[in-house]
Amino acid sequence: MEIHIQQGKLEENIKERVFDIAILGVFENETSDFTSKSLQAVDSALDGAINGLLTRKEFVGKLNTIEIVRPDWKNSHSRLLIVGLGKKDEFSLERLRQVSGKTAVRTRELNCQEIVTTLHEIRLDNSAKDTAQAVIEGSILGMYKFVELKTDSRSEFIDIKKILLLEREMTVLDEIQEGANIGKTIAEATNFARNLANMPGNIATPTYLATKSEDLAISLGLKYNILDEEIAQEMGLNAYLSVAQGSDQPAKFIILEYTPQEKEALETIVVIGKAITFDSGGLSLKQKTGMENMKYDKSGGCTVIGLIHAVSHLQLPIHLFALIPATENLPGGKAIKPGDVIKSFSGKTIEVVNTDAEGRLVMADALTYAKKYSPTLVIDIATLTGAIRITLGAHASGLMANKEAENFKKLLTSAGEKTGERVWELPLWKEYSTHLRSDFADLKNVGGREGAAIIAAVFLSEFVEKGTPWIHLDIAGTARSDKKKAYIPKGASGVGVRLLVQFIRDLIGN
Ligand code: BES
Ligand code: ZN
Ligand code: ZN
Repeated sequence: MEIHIQQGKLEENIKERVFDIAILGVFENETSDFTSKSLQAVDSALDGAINGLLTRKEFVGKLNTIEIVRPDWKNSHSRLLIVGLGKKDEFSLERLRQVSGKTAVRTRELNCQEIVTTLHEIRLDNSAKDTAQAVIEGSILGMYKFVELKTDSRSEFIDIKKILLLEREMTVLDEIQEGANIGKTIAEATNFARNLANMPGNIATPTYLATKSEDLAISLGLKYNILDEEIAQEMGLNAYLSVAQGSDQPAKFIILEYTPQEKEALETIVVIGKAITFDSGGLSLKQKTGMENMKYDKSGGCTVIGLIHAVSHLQLPIHLFALIPATENLPGGKAIKPGDVIKSFSGKTIEVVNTDAEGRLVMADALTYAKKYSPTLVIDIATLTGAIRITLGAHASGLMANKEAENFKKLLTSAGEKTGERVWELPLWKEYSTHLRSDFADLKNVGGREGAAIIAAVFLSEFVEKGTPWIHLDIAGTARSDKKKAYIPKGASGVGVRLLVQFIRDLIGN
């Protein structure tokens, strides 16, 4: 989709039909004196037709509601799309993203290929740059469809070819251009992560993720290293390999490294993404209902790949390592058995009581691996526990962190509010660690049903270098959406890409 930014007034352009549809926003119950100057002018040109709709309450501007108006312009068939922005005092960039996603989908359903939008005019307290970013981000995210495996996908819809952001004020054009570029980059990286995560287990094997990562690294000029099982064995990544034992698919420990080309890197961050390409539970087999969704157990890894994609495109001044321990979790003949004791990469021994708590095993070795980079911060992102979905539902990811990460945690929480990818903290009190005491090893990998999301994080904390700030994000409730939302389709949400890009941008003051 091409994005054009142009100075101009909608009411002057509209009669020439240079586009199929024009998008205008209206706040709930606002009449005549519209916030959008373009709406005001178009309404006057239409002799108050839109105002009429509102006063007759045929359309009241409720959030995400849409009305199509066919103005009787001479020599024109252009349509207008009026979208409800909800209550003015509740307006936010998140709402603007939602509205943009909804309208993009609707205009595509109407077979419009060239659209002009004035939504970025609704700036209120936000900058022109941020509003333009939200409009483009919401539009591209909203239009995402997973069509890779459909043989006749083209007949389903025609893509929007061109979106024009028509701006009245000349002075903010550069800002709008910049915001639109950022929005496009971030949304495309998120859709890239969604595509990987939606791919089924028979295609998206660890080898597939490794190949995709390698292709990406080559195209972006990133350094990369893919550790195969032989090397991992020599190194002693036994907790990770113990999960891979039951599968015929070779495990791949993927490492990507980004350094900015020109700017100086300020901090070194390691981001670790859980990538179980299919989690059957292993010998502690999962129940069959919903097991197909366990292809999403690689979502953390996919997010991390999407993140480095975005950070590299934006050339952010940060030194970023992405670690993606990828493997299947299957109950093959060589599979790890409940009760087996393994020696992790850290040297600590683990009694594997439940082979379905495999995420923490692969993440444990990756956390140990992260030490070699002496990072300023380690973030791990994982579909780690069903318990987090019970706790927070699909409305927030779980955040757990050590004391050293206090300031980073605040920044990440605020990035969550900004992006709509909310995080909510759970405590890591010392008392929880008693649940992980083992009679046979240094610790066991499960601690019962109570506080299971916290106990999983406490397990991970055992493998974090003392003194290194560390944040754990449990995305088991947010990585997959079971219903279509304004800009999140059913299936992979790509959660974490936008959150972490925003976090890094805020951290470096970008
Ligand atoms: N991949 C699952 C967690 C999960 C569950 C993700 C539901 C998405 C949706 C993880 O490996 C797992 O099975 N965890 C167990 C841990 C338990 C055995 C302590 C769980 O949450 O049931
Ligand atoms: Zn599992
Ligand atoms: Zn899992």
